[in-house]
Amino acid sequence: MTEGVGSVLKSNAEIKARIRELAAEISRDYAHIQSESPLLVLCTLRGAVFFAADLVRELTVPVELDFIKVKSYQGTRPVGAPVFEYGETLDVRGREVLIVEDIVDTGQTMDTVMRSFADKGAAGIRIATMLDKPDRRYAHLKDHVLPDYIGFSVPDLFVIGWGLDYNERYRLLPDIMVYEQTTDEMA
Ligand code: IMP
Ligand code: MG
Repeated sequence: MTEGVGSVLKSNAEIKARIRELAAEISRDYAHIQSESPLLVLCTLRGAVFFAADLVRELTVPVELDFIKVKSYQGTRPVGAPVFEYGETLDVRGREVLIVEDIVDTGQTMDTVMRSFADKGAAGIRIATMLDKPDRRYAHLKDHVLPDYIGFSVPDLFVIGWGLDYNERYRLLPDIMVYEQTTDEMA
């Protein structure tokens, strides 16, 4: 079986056009945001940096950009409960928070992040994700982890490029591509 970079799932041009639409929608929804308390955009490291960078520059509301890092994946497989590596102590009290994620898969990562910031008193928490893989959502999270803004809903495939990695490789590919797995890796 082949291994490595497969076909293009979403081209760079498609991604860019979709980000403009999402930014317009988000800007409308947060039109009430005042510069004294900007929308706190929390980009998940490292996969979502490209998405966040493009998105925040298209938003027309006041924004503060910060970063969080949550570890959950090794290769193509989740490695148990996600843990914060950075950003858990950010002060979100009374803030409108928009988490920017590359892809929501089982939903564990976003569940962990949302719980943590809700406990710390955020005024509101929403999720913007470039990709959503609803078929992979853990059953107990199906009704809880519902991203508010979704770039594209995709089938159950492992994807790389445009920030997404396979063991830290392929992040810089300009398009979102399918990663073809070997039988061994999938076992
Ligand atoms: P979840 O906790 O299972 O929802 O996984 C979310 C995280 O897993 C994402 O933020 C990605 O870092 C990673 N991930 C899930 N699916 C893929 C994929 O197809 N390609 C690359 N990374 C992925
Ligand atoms: Mg991620």
